Amino acid sequence: MSAVSETRRTTVPEIRAHKNAKPVVCLTCYHAHTARLLDEHVDLILVGDSLGMVMHGMENTLGVTLDMMILHGKAVMRGSRRALIVIDMPFGSYEENPEIAFRNAARVVQETGCSAVKLEGGARMAETIRYLSLRGIPVMGHIGLTPQMIQVLGGFKTQGRTAEEWPAIEADAQAVAEAGAFAVVLEGMAEPLAAKITRQIAIPTIGIGASAECDGQILVMEDMLGLNPRPAKFVRQYANMGADIEAAVRSYASDVRARRFPGEENIYKMKRAG
Ligand code: KIV
Repeated sequence: MSAVSETRRTTVPEIRAHKNAKPVVCLTCYHAHTARLLDEHVDLILVGDSLGMVMHGMENTLGVTLDMMILHGKAVMRGSRRALIVIDMPFGSYEENPEIAFRNAARVVQETGCSAVKLEGGARMAETIRYLSLRGIPVMGHIGLTPQMIQVLGGFKTQGRTAEEWPAIEADAQAVAEAGAFAVVLEGMAEPLAAKITRQIAIPTIGIGASAECDGQILVMEDMLGLNPRPAKFVRQYANMGADIEAAVRSYASDVRARRFPGEENIYKMKRAG
């Protein structure tokens, strides 16, 4: 009998059970080696379509494809063993109808082995969320500032800043919860509205630029590490890795230019004969 305890992945019902309990710790991640570093410390890793901007230098998320999500999703699955992995459905892969959404989401689940997908939209996506959930694909919702609607919203603007906007956003939250989503991201939302929605709905709310009262929080990992040259304004930087990388590369370049050996000096030294 092995003394090593087997690591098992967090499940969707376990995340769902965080409602009104311990906050859910979430981060985005797109690569195997960083997934390995996060895995012990977070409950849920999102392979977000923000990878279009963060990893691939795109202007927004609209150019991200299903193949890109699957490629990065596989990497994160290889690097992690414990956290629940959720993969974003990219723009154009699910909005048309529930059947197309199912076909594409099933591809994501089958090819990566992830546990769930995330899609953007409230009431208008409720039918699709129900369709997927009832057929074995757990769905995380995403309302408020939905980056795939950037052209319609006219920019990355906080949602719910006026009282007139609240009823529609509250209805979105309710629709997503009632359709069977296991959690919902509230992004870029006025603080009191996010807090109110958190009290109103039966599933965990995961805030990003929303409220400390949400049932959990998510950040784009590169934003909080200081690795994104264009981080979201509200993000607290827990490290300044961009500056660390630049400093390290500067030292390396100066070693190479000075013909200093950029490695362990002795490992390849010839053995003296005799
Ligand atoms: O794509 C992403 O990284 C996201 C998070 C910001 C929630 O959707």
